[in-house]
Amino acid sequence: MNNQKILLGITGGIAAYKTPELVRRLKERGADVQVVLTRSAREFVTETTLQAVSGRPVRANLWDKEAEAAMGHIELARWADLVLIAPATAEIMARLASGSAPDLLTTLCLATEAPIAIAPAMNHVMWSNPAVQENREKLTNRGIRILGPAVGDQACGETGPGRMLEPDDIVKAVCAPVAVQNAEQAPLAGKTVMITAGPTREAIDPVRFISNRSSGKMGYALADAASKAGAKVILITGPVGIPAPDGIDALNVENAKEMYAAVHSNIDNVDIFIGAAAVADYHAVNINAEKIKKSDDKMSIELARNPDILSSVARLQDRPFTAGFAAETENLRDYAIGKLEAKNLDMIIANLVGRNRGFDSDDNTVEVFWRDGEQSFPTTKKSVLAKDLVALIARRYREGQAAETENTKTELPAIMVRD
Ligand code: C5P
Repeated sequence: MNNQKILLGITGGIAAYKTPELVRRLKERGADVQVVLTRSAREFVTETTLQAVSGRPVRANLWDKEAEAAMGHIELARWADLVLIAPATAEIMARLASGSAPDLLTTLCLATEAPIAIAPAMNHVMWSNPAVQENREKLTNRGIRILGPAVGDQACGETGPGRMLEPDDIVKAVCAPVAVQNAEQAPLAGKTVMITAGPTREAIDPVRFISNRSSGKMGYALADAASKAGAKVILITGPVGIPAPDGIDALNVENAKEMYAAVHSNIDNVDIFIGAAAVADYHAVNINAEKIKKSDDKMSIELARNPDILSSVARLQDRPFTAGFAAETENLRDYAIGKLEAKNLDMIIANLVGRNRGFDSDDNTVEVFWRDGEQSFPTTKKSVLAKDLVALIARRYREGQAAETENTKTELPAIMVRD
């Protein structure tokens, strides 16, 4: 970070007590740090401390004549190579999202051409609030980097997503070479992702079928997010009423058997498989050639199990990273973890479904489980959630690849000895 000029905005959250440490870490890497405090930040951390560690007078007031005479706010906005706001409260996110500029920090953010990164920190319920999530989406879409938040214990005594990233992690994120930062923006560049989406329809006769309420929205949002993350996407979809995302050609299928065939004839070279389809568990043993006529008061249809597409992929010898969904109406955690193991998956994304929840809705709330971890995602639009899920899948995929390379390295000497 040699001579990188960082304008560090500190806003009023309890995590502000970690910012003198953050300034020191940035300075150790060679950065020049100018601190700007908001009024509420001064309740948590003092100008004296920050001036001592940064070696520069702290700026806190847009109307400070002396400071403005030394370096006016527009000049300060031009001076910065990066604007970093840590901690970033829900309030500053709202101000940035709306473009309002009632104080020095927000004015600088509007006036700068430098990239902006923020490290949100707030109570996990606040972080989950739809207003905050909408603001986060707006900021991300405008190219503002969102660092974290981390999941864990909170100052309020609760646990969840909302902790500010640790100073070291913030420094690592802002110091990462451009290639790594690009990898964050396009984490799936060069990878092929196959996604199944929508319901399947299992015919009973030429005009009737068994199906479910899946709208395909989650799978389509994932396809879009994976494509925007740089992946080549193969979308295999049952019948839905929404258009394929831009730039993605969907393979349309009707029933589970066709979906199974489409998946397995295109699975070579797939790096990541995401089973988001609500595949019917059964199909009719006999499909009537003609429309079934009503006769008796009761009728029964003999059904046979459909192949499990997801677990058939997860059991391939050269298997892709495999993620599935578990839509449950109860016991979410237990059923989801059971499926993770039974289907030999790398990850399971679990959501409660039922009246106005999950299926056919524009929002979703999910818990994600993998073998040694889990993460919950607050209720948010499926398009926003899809981006987060794709980022998490990309991270877990990369970690898996790195662990495999590491294992191959440690196995090498044994092979050499045998030769
Ligand atoms: O066992 P259950 O149907 O709850 O598992 C759901 C997950 O398995 C989803 O990811 C779904 O796409 C996948 N699945 C599948 N083929 C089936 C049934 C489910 O790929 N026949």
